Amino acid sequence: MTLRLYKRLFKYLRPYLSRVVLAIFFSVVVGAIATSPVPLIQKTFDKIFVEKNYLMLTLIPMALVGLYLIKGILQYSQNLILFRISWELVVSVRQEVFEHLHRLPLGYFEDNDTGQIFSRIMSDVTIMQSNLTNVAKDFLQNSVMFVGLVFWVIYLNWVWALFALVLFPIMILPSMNVARKLRRYAHQGQGFLANISSTINESFSGIKVIRAFGLEPHEIDKFKGFNQQFLAVMKKNVKYTEILSPLLEFLGVMSAGFILWYGGTQVLEEKISQGTFLAFLAALFMMYRPLRLLFKSYASVQSSLAGAERIFAVLDEVEEKVQEGQRELTGLSDCIEYRNVSFKYPSRDAMVLSNINLKVQKSEVLAIVGMSGAGKSTLVDLLFRFFNLTEGEIRIDGVDTREYTLKSLRRQMALVAQETFLFNDTIWNNIGSGRPGASREDILQAAHAAHVDHFVRDLDNGYETMIGERGVRLSGGQRQRISIARALLRDAPILVLDEATSSLDSESEKLVQGALHNLMENRTTFVIAHRLSTVKNADRIVVLDHGKIVETGTHDSLIAKGGLYEKYYHTQFSEGRSRPRTIEEAGDAL
Ligand SMILES: Nc1ncnc2c1ncn2[C@@H]1O[C@H](COP(=O)(O)OP(=O)(O)O)[C@@H](O)[C@H]1O
Ligand SMILES: [Mg+2]
Repeated sequence: MTLRLYKRLFKYLRPYLSRVVLAIFFSVVVGAIATSPVPLIQKTFDKIFVEKNYLMLTLIPMALVGLYLIKGILQYSQNLILFRISWELVVSVRQEVFEHLHRLPLGYFEDNDTGQIFSRIMSDVTIMQSNLTNVAKDFLQNSVMFVGLVFWVIYLNWVWALFALVLFPIMILPSMNVARKLRRYAHQGQGFLANISSTINESFSGIKVIRAFGLEPHEIDKFKGFNQQFLAVMKKNVKYTEILSPLLEFLGVMSAGFILWYGGTQVLEEKISQGTFLAFLAALFMMYRPLRLLFKSYASVQSSLAGAERIFAVLDEVEEKVQEGQRELTGLSDCIEYRNVSFKYPSRDAMVLSNINLKVQKSEVLAIVGMSGAGKSTLVDLLFRFFNLTEGEIRIDGVDTREYTLKSLRRQMALVAQETFLFNDTIWNNIGSGRPGASREDILQAAHAAHVDHFVRDLDNGYETMIGERGVRLSGGQRQRISIARALLRDAPILVLDEATSSLDSESEKLVQGALHNLMENRTTFVIAHRLSTVKNADRIVVLDHGKIVETGTHDSLIAKGGLYEKYYHTQFSEGRSRPRTIEEAGDAL
């Protein structure tokens, strides 16, 4: 499991392999130089102080300065290489995750909220980076240094070395254990952090509703809960990270104390030189630092792996891909046909649409009517292939839409959705996003037709006005008009209007209705209308109830038939002033 993870991480390093090898080489040299004080101390005492060798008195300091100059340069180069690679890595992993998310089916975004996704892209990637670099930086250098020091103590006096080092292996096992715990805590900590960021996201994007309903205490409690959970994990985490240092230090000092006593006796008895004794002690003390850093970087590896696991979990998310083929759809020449289409959302068991058969001719305007939850939006969404059909097929010009590429299929359609979504960008760019590369005139024309220019005139920056997060600075109707302009600009043969005018007041609706009428000309249109008056003018009306088509016909024929549609319509007009103006209201009144 962990090995697979390493292998996978290693794959990301492959493009940088030559630089990594160079950095490794540098750290080996740096680690080796870092042990040089040991022999230098020995020589200083034995040659200079005891033998009074004046040549050595100049050579040793020069060697020391020279070696540390080289060490400094190499260490800097090594870190430069490693940190640059690690940033390149972060950026490319982040890019990969983002691109992957855009390829995931829509279902993924219903199960995972924005805050969670945000935290994957931001903090998990960063944690992976920071730890991996520290590891790369410290691990090799310190292992080399540690091995070098072990070599020196054995070289200086292997019997003492045996005594001094016997304690170290005993340390390894509990340290591994601690590291495993740390990885688990890092995993949990990141999870709580993700909850924290999704709470922040939810809280402030819904700030109005929260204030209006007085939900602040509830939100604050929720936040506190996650915050406290995070704190608890971090406290445990600290308990284990910080135990290692003092423990290792104490072990080191125990060895040193023993050598001081035992070795000191031998020096006094002149069995061993002063230089060797001091060098040995120095080596023991120097050993402590690399050892501590080694354990620390091992612990970092563990939390890095936790971050990597969470990222890979996103990258491994495939779910059911939307099927697509190779054919290019270039336009609509004949008809769109639903054949025995049934559909259920992947997350739910109940069928939302059952056995839909429907044929829409080119240039026909089809209205879809039904109470909320009847499946109207789902019916038109399937045209875009946002989801795979559960059963049946949708054909365009006699060819199953699964055979077309998604890109060419969607290029033939324009959508004005129930929830108007606008980018945090200027009004101009929002309209322009309908057809990248559209000319200035086309954009102005679309804006004019959708009556966007009516209110843009009053804005200080006109079309260059930025629309704030989720377009808060515009009214619902204004936002809807921008999204209609965007669809107008797209100039696609198939038009889907999903309650496109529901948040317009009746005055602007009349205006926009005119624009929509122009737009519907020569286009195949699916219109889901909130107001019955809009529906009357359609070529054909389909009445949807609980996911089934229960009636089809023109307004007049459906009225004559006296079915569900007639009831909606009748309710709308029979109750005088308080008559319902929408299908939902009519349905409620039934
Ligand atoms: N993304 C979704 N995941 C699961 N169920 C959904 C989803 N969207 C809609 N539904 C369910 O499908 C049914 C039809 O929804 P919808 O097509 O939006 O109805 P309408 O547009 O007619 O109001 C409803 O019961 C709704 O709860
Ligand atoms: Mg709907």
